[in-house]
Amino acid sequence: MEPPKTLNYLSQEKILQSSFIRDEDQRPKVAYNNFSNDIPVISLAGIDDEGGRRTEICNNIVEACENWGIFQIVDHGVDRELISEMTRFAKGFFDLPPEEKLRFDMSGGKKGGFIVSSHLQGEAVKDWRELVTYFSYPIRNRDYSRWPDKPEGWKEVTEQYSEKLMGLACKLLEVLSEAMGLEKEALTKACVDMDQKVVINFYPKCPQPDLTLGLKRHTDPGTITLLLQDQVGGLQATKDNGKTWITVQPIEGAFVVNLGDHGHYLSNGRFKNADHQAVVNSNYSRLSIATFQNPAPDATVYPLKIKEGEKSIMEAPITFTEMYRRKMSKDLEIARMKKLAKEKELRDLEKAKLEGKPLNEILA
Ligand code: OGA
Ligand code: NI
Repeated sequence: MEPPKTLNYLSQEKILQSSFIRDEDQRPKVAYNNFSNDIPVISLAGIDDEGGRRTEICNNIVEACENWGIFQIVDHGVDRELISEMTRFAKGFFDLPPEEKLRFDMSGGKKGGFIVSSHLQGEAVKDWRELVTYFSYPIRNRDYSRWPDKPEGWKEVTEQYSEKLMGLACKLLEVLSEAMGLEKEALTKACVDMDQKVVINFYPKCPQPDLTLGLKRHTDPGTITLLLQDQVGGLQATKDNGKTWITVQPIEGAFVVNLGDHGHYLSNGRFKNADHQAVVNSNYSRLSIATFQNPAPDATVYPLKIKEGEKSIMEAPITFTEMYRRKMSKDLEIARMKKLAKEKELRDLEKAKLEGKPLNEILA
């Protein structure tokens, strides 16, 4: 039998398989370990004492959201022990033999599980990553049959992690609500019943990392994302539409906070949706754990407040499901155009070759 095609298997090869090779304009411009300190690192120590440090912390968060839509937080109150347990379990899952991981294969459209190089249908190039994902909120929708069951104890640790991160995310949304001149609960209320989805990304060593991406450029669709990354590095952000990129400096125990499209729309564009990607390298594999906080599927997406003299950045209110559908179909359309352009280029090349050749060579 052919060995299962997890990336671990492909990462042993010398040459990158062509399905992972990106067009030149999409390839990494900055090295995975060329770290930048442009993304603010904000300590949350004292965030609860009104009148104390809270104002300063809030100002820093708001400034980062206006500028980048991305920042890192330390002293966030999530137990170090829990973070290292979570990381240990996540690593343990990817260390399992392929057939164990493939027990949770979700390539057939299952909700949650394991997948290799997930990419949109119709998208030409694959991402150099494996992932395992599960839906953790609302609790009534948990389908434990789609959660990994190994390493032993997975459920207990991941449940605790989910709960703590939900609390932390809500705290950050309070700050942003206040900055918008609204009541503290405004953003969480706009999510109706907040969804949480955890995605554990594993990026194996890659034979030719300069030709590919671990995760292609995107914005997260939801409200806010909390990302825990290891010390390898590879998360990159741009705030000039992809002209220049920076690699986020990994900080032990910190969370990278990304604002998503939903947060961007609700703030009427004041807060940016972080434009980011992940690059890979040939020295180390890399692990990151992304916790996505999303509104309920039928929650309304529309600016919560429009300042005097400003216009809404959205034509009309839509549901989050519709917002997501439009995002996906736009991405697919771009991918389709790109594929067509590439095919035409190839055909033209073939044609040019044929035209320059004598008939006996063409027929040979
Ligand atoms: C994501 C993401 C970045 C990373 O999962 O949406 O952007 O560094 N991950 O893994
Ligand atoms: Ni992302």
